[in-house]
Amino acid sequence: MITFEGVTKRYRDGTVAVDDLSLEVPTGAITVFVGPSGCGKTTSLRMINRMIDATSGRIALDGQDVREIDPPTLRRGIGYVIQQAGLFPHRKIVDNVATVPYLLGWSRKKARARAMELLELVGLDASLASRYPFQLSGGQQQRVGVARALAADPPVLLMDEPFSAVDPIVRASLQDELLRLQSELRKTIVFVTHDIDEAVKLGDTVAVMRVGGRLAQMAGPATLLTEPADDFVREFLGRDRGIRRLSFISAKEVRLSPAPSALVIDEDGRPLGWRTGDGLAAYGTFNPETDSLRVALDAALLSPNGIAVAVDEAGRVRGVAGRDAIDELLAEHAPPAAGPFRDAGSPRAAGSPPAGSPPGGSGAGISEGVPT
Ligand SMILES: Nc1ncnc2c1ncn2[C@@H]1O[C@H](COP(=O)(O)OP(=O)(O)O)[C@@H](O)[C@H]1O
Ligand SMILES: [Mg+2]
Repeated sequence: MITFEGVTKRYRDGTVAVDDLSLEVPTGAITVFVGPSGCGKTTSLRMINRMIDATSGRIALDGQDVREIDPPTLRRGIGYVIQQAGLFPHRKIVDNVATVPYLLGWSRKKARARAMELLELVGLDASLASRYPFQLSGGQQQRVGVARALAADPPVLLMDEPFSAVDPIVRASLQDELLRLQSELRKTIVFVTHDIDEAVKLGDTVAVMRVGGRLAQMAGPATLLTEPADDFVREFLGRDRGIRRLSFISAKEVRLSPAPSALVIDEDGRPLGWRTGDGLAAYGTFNPETDSLRVALDAALLSPNGIAVAVDEAGRVRGVAGRDAIDELLAEHAPPAAGPFRDAGSPRAAGSPPAGSPPGGSGAGISEGVPT
């Protein structure tokens, strides 16, 4: 268990990044720190492995004050994963994964064998081991980052926005993969994100933070969604409701246009890619009959020209939809006024009617989340 007891971090310039934070991170579970940009998530995380030292208060690891543990020893037991993986560009994948075992003085053979085992664990093909990071996709690099953090089998994993730089579809599969891994490994994970959907999906416990480094609420995801502690939490949960709402709208009514000639199609009518100057670019598809508007939007975001390809059950092209067509349908389904739990039809909110719903829509609290 990791314990924060009245932890405050004041940077030299006077910024109070974390203010009197007290909370417990249970062993063997995923605890998510979520909140708007600048609310002190990264600072809180880095105080655990002493990349940053607290100004006052105490952080304990299974009862022992982290200040009593020398940083290299401390970090040996704590894996650390960051956005864009932070891989060494000039080292092969296998050697990136083996970084910590090498530091620990393992033989090259043993370290590499461990690295190969980990690549398999995170779902990467052994043939990628001898490549360099730039030869991998963003999602694959992120998996390598996770494998590297797990190399010395640390009981604790700190993950700082690890999936924030990849597209929504890859992000979802990385999240699924993390949950699968965790069901086997049962690490103590502290996961930082600004994305409330990600927090609710991954967290056994979710700590919502507000700017100034204050804890607004800590609870299980279901409780958080049904019993937000105050207006700030309510607003923060509701902020992404525009996007979340899309999952409950069918893509059936999306206005389709004929596929432009830039979309290359095989002889069976299935898409191959968007023609560009030097080849074929990625495309995203949705099936208007069975998919939600969320899938359509993800499909649009996946292709460089922002156009989603509509396909039938057999994967044959039926037409295309640009962002304008998707936005049009969204506008038709726009809620009359704000109120985070208006989408009470959502599975998460099921059984929790919007009774006692907030006045909402004031925007109070959200303005704190100006990106820094
Ligand atoms: N080294 C630093 N010196 C001064 N202020 C900092 C430093 N690092 C972060 N901050 C400030 O501390 C606050 C919290 O930052 P951070 O922990 O990075 O937030 P988050 O990860 O939630 O976006 C922000 O106001 C940020 O500008
Ligand atoms: Mg951060």
